[in-house]
Amino acid sequence: MKDMGLATVTEAVAQSFAGLPDARQRELVQCLVKALHQYARDVQLTHTEWRAALTFLHKVGDISSDSRSEFSLLSDVLGLSSLVDLLASDPAVTPGSVLGPFHTPGSPWLSNPADLTGANAGQRVLLRARVCDSAGQALPGASIDFWQNAANGLYWQVDLSQPTDNLRCQLKVGADGCCEIATIRAVPYEIPTDGPAWLDLVEPAGRSAWRPAHFHVIVSASGYRTLVTEIFDAEDPYLDSDAVFGVREALVGRYQNVADPEACARLGLPGEKVPVMSFEIRLAPL
Ligand code: BEZ
Ligand code: FE
Repeated sequence: MKDMGLATVTEAVAQSFAGLPDARQRELVQCLVKALHQYARDVQLTHTEWRAALTFLHKVGDISSDSRSEFSLLSDVLGLSSLVDLLASDPAVTPGSVLGPFHTPGSPWLSNPADLTGANAGQRVLLRARVCDSAGQALPGASIDFWQNAANGLYWQVDLSQPTDNLRCQLKVGADGCCEIATIRAVPYEIPTDGPAWLDLVEPAGRSAWRPAHFHVIVSASGYRTLVTEIFDAEDPYLDSDAVFGVREALVGRYQNVADPEACARLGLPGEKVPVMSFEIRLAPL
């Protein structure tokens, strides 16, 4: 008979997973057991609290669907998504940041320079990106998958008033590693506030639901690690209180009013100046 007591139960449970054939999965599960048990010991978890936590997780599952993952949102607001991004980031290159729920594969391929403005309301801006390696050497073969929200704060997937694929594209950078996207200035928006992550956890803590304005990019190049990240707007009021902890100094860009009559004519903008945000994306080798 195994006598399960406070002194033996944690090791016994961890050991019960020793038969998992995959070494990494074994490590993940055994460490999780130990961390969970340590947490329960540290806070002296009561039955009432344990049941409340299970009820909360039930609610997280109940509101989740194919198009809504409250578990992802929970990971985001607990900062776990951001921590995993940081753990995967190479300090010599551009850091990663939250993927979020609004990336869907299959964005239309556009040629460079791309124009996403269409019939969108919002301030016209130009984004100029340069993709390079950690030494600043341009990566001509790189691709960018880009998406952002519209002037009303919503992504096209959750807003029937927007056309399919609004404000998203994929493109290849030029021989100089550079690309240009004409678009609208992204605006801040709130994370979903109708589920338990917000209602039971984040709102009671008095936290903000706002994410600062950002553009999402996934940057890939052969021989380099694919980077999932975001580019923020230096003038955004929510930079210091991102609900999902995605802001990093290296990811904040600033618009400069640049005289570019050719771009203004091409984009039908009045005058000769346009707000341009230029940023460099450095990729780590595989
Ligand atoms: C977003 O960036 O779109 C996002 C990220 C986390 C939660 C909700 C939205
Ligand atoms: Fe987003």
